[in-house]
Amino acid sequence: MAKKRIAIMTGGGDCPGLNAVIYAAVRVGAGRFGWEVLGVEDATRGLIDLEYRFPHGNLWLTEESVRGILSRGGTILGTSNRSDPFNFVVRNADGTEGTIDVSDQVVANFQKLGLSGLISIGGDGSMRIAKRLMDKGIPIVGVPKTIDNDLACTDQTFGFDTAVQIATEALDRVRDTAESHDRVMVVEVMGRDAGFIALHAGIAGGADAILLPEIPYRLEPIAEMIKQRRAAGQTYSIIVVAEGAKPAHGEASIGEHKAGAMPRLMGAGMRVAERLGPMIAAELRVTVLGHIQRGGSPSNYDRVLAVRYGQAAAELAERGEFGRMVALRGGKITSVSIEEASAGNKRVDPAEQLVSTARAIGVCFGDEA
Ligand code: F6P
Repeated sequence: MAKKRIAIMTGGGDCPGLNAVIYAAVRVGAGRFGWEVLGVEDATRGLIDLEYRFPHGNLWLTEESVRGILSRGGTILGTSNRSDPFNFVVRNADGTEGTIDVSDQVVANFQKLGLSGLISIGGDGSMRIAKRLMDKGIPIVGVPKTIDNDLACTDQTFGFDTAVQIATEALDRVRDTAESHDRVMVVEVMGRDAGFIALHAGIAGGADAILLPEIPYRLEPIAEMIKQRRAAGQTYSIIVVAEGAKPAHGEASIGEHKAGAMPRLMGAGMRVAERLGPMIAAELRVTVLGHIQRGGSPSNYDRVLAVRYGQAAAELAERGEFGRMVALRGGKITSVSIEEASAGNKRVDPAEQLVSTARAIGVCFGDEA
């Protein structure tokens, strides 16, 4: 009997733990169920064009070939956040970029390869693409990844814990130098339109103010907090700014917006510093953590979560339960429909307990009277 052929791919921005999911899915899929597993290069690129090689092309994955990858950051398959087959980026004759729909090519190549399912490891964008590809007949199991933790229907995405750990360590380092120089340090963290990284790292790193996309800020309460700290002998302050933070009656700081991609969030920390500077007596410095939060070895927590997700995804595919995304709920791995998971995003609820905890220990969110 012909072996079952399942593809696996990583889509969107990378994050620590992608390789751990691949490792577990291959060990369960190839090792236990006897599948042939095809690793697709650079999100859907390897399915849009079977000749695509940048640098290696699609890879047949075996227990042997995934040995040792569990602890490695990045993704051995490569990824892309500009490979939506329904809005695929092409260069026009005049040098500008536009988008076209190449989803029929994905379906045709999927069939040509004799695949019977696809494990798609990705964030909200990837789950929306998965939903549309499923509507065209491709059977998909989703695995929720992103450092932003903004995917609906799961308590946590893998990658988030590592990003929080990196940001927390950065805050510890920044504190030392802030204290030495009596400075106000603004630290910008990632997270897109969700403030989970800022909130968790801010609390863990002892930030004095945390600015979230979900709680529009004013600068007056922050300037007042800094003044009071100085009067009480605390000569430095640390402000964590989520990249999607916005002032009351203002918008998030957007940088470039390329065809087929989300607009880039840029400059939120610098904007806070430039406007806060004239309001306070202290010197200010800005640190943007950027992609440092996405690289490196996954935390133990993320490794375990990723392995659990990889196992569960392979088992769903083996049972033919497609259209599902594995999810963590109340400490247990379960699954939800991709349709439901891709319908909306998760955000920090300003009324949630963790925000109250932060307020209780004196963290300023910039919305205080
Ligand atoms: O979604 C993950 C993320 O790291 C966001 O936090 C950030 O806004 C974005 O990706 C950055 O994307 P890029 O790698 O394209 O700069």
